[in-house]
Amino acid sequence: MRHVAEGQYLPHGIPPTVPNVARMYDYYLGGKDNFAVDREAADKIISIVPSVRSTTKANRAFLGKAVSLLARAGVRQFVDIGAGLPTQDNVHQVVQRVAADARTVYVDNDPVVLVHARALLEDNPETKVIGGDLRRPKELLADPDLREHIDFGRPVAVLMLAVLHFIPDHDEVDAIVETVRRALVPGSYLLLSHFYTPDDEQDTVRAGAKAYSSTNAGSLTARSLTRINGYLSGLDLIEPGLVPVRTWRPAWEEEAVVDLSVPDLLGAVGRVP
Ligand SMILES: C[S@@+](CC[C@H](N)C(=O)[O-])C[C@H]1O[C@@H](n2cnc3c(N)ncnc32)[C@H](O)[C@@H]1O
Repeated sequence: MRHVAEGQYLPHGIPPTVPNVARMYDYYLGGKDNFAVDREAADKIISIVPSVRSTTKANRAFLGKAVSLLARAGVRQFVDIGAGLPTQDNVHQVVQRVAADARTVYVDNDPVVLVHARALLEDNPETKVIGGDLRRPKELLADPDLREHIDFGRPVAVLMLAVLHFIPDHDEVDAIVETVRRALVPGSYLLLSHFYTPDDEQDTVRAGAKAYSSTNAGSLTARSLTRINGYLSGLDLIEPGLVPVRTWRPAWEEEAVVDLSVPDLLGAVGRVP
């Protein structure tokens, strides 16, 4: 991997006065690609939900376990929508350990992410980074670079991890997921993780929504089990189904107690039958 000099990835004109969800996430993960404004907003969240850092790490572990499993099952095409800033064990690195010819396309709508990702992730011919907005899924799926790299006539694993909760209901999130799902042939996979709440009145949910309203994403919408399950309806869910990401196929020494009485990040992998 090449390295990006300090500050080089910040495109001209991006105000570092607005907290950025990708950089906040990088801070939760212990990364260095964040600014004071991001750390301040993230620290506010950590003070209310101290588990956010371990949850974020568990989300990356979920990603690693899931894409490795799919690569071992023969999937050779991966599209990571809302990919975020490069970190350790990005999708292409995990899947290429299993199959060197596995292809990955990273998609994000944040110019900060794109500059950084192009420098660090496009490090071999099987990997591409494209700009695309999940709120315009038809346009995203029609992107010529995506189509050149990924053959939607064959199985594809599409990841939408920790991104759908940044799309508010008025942007028709259900229709967005449906459009993405319609592009997938049988044998394809959908990987989701989503901020869940059993009750919109929970303090953590309100505090999270408030803190994220001043970020570049503009909002954070926790959704119910029914809503998140709806995105997966008709898919064959891989064991253990939709669960908190920290309990998705844990290593033997970790706990796998599923508690859906509290807000958490839920994850699942579904196969298109
Ligand atoms: C919290 S990060 C998650 C990163 C990675 N998917 C993971 O789970 O580790 C969310 C990412 O989604 C991106 N994002 C938010 N809204 C998006 C949209 N409408 N279209 C594409 N990307 C979006 C953000 O820019 C950010 O990089």
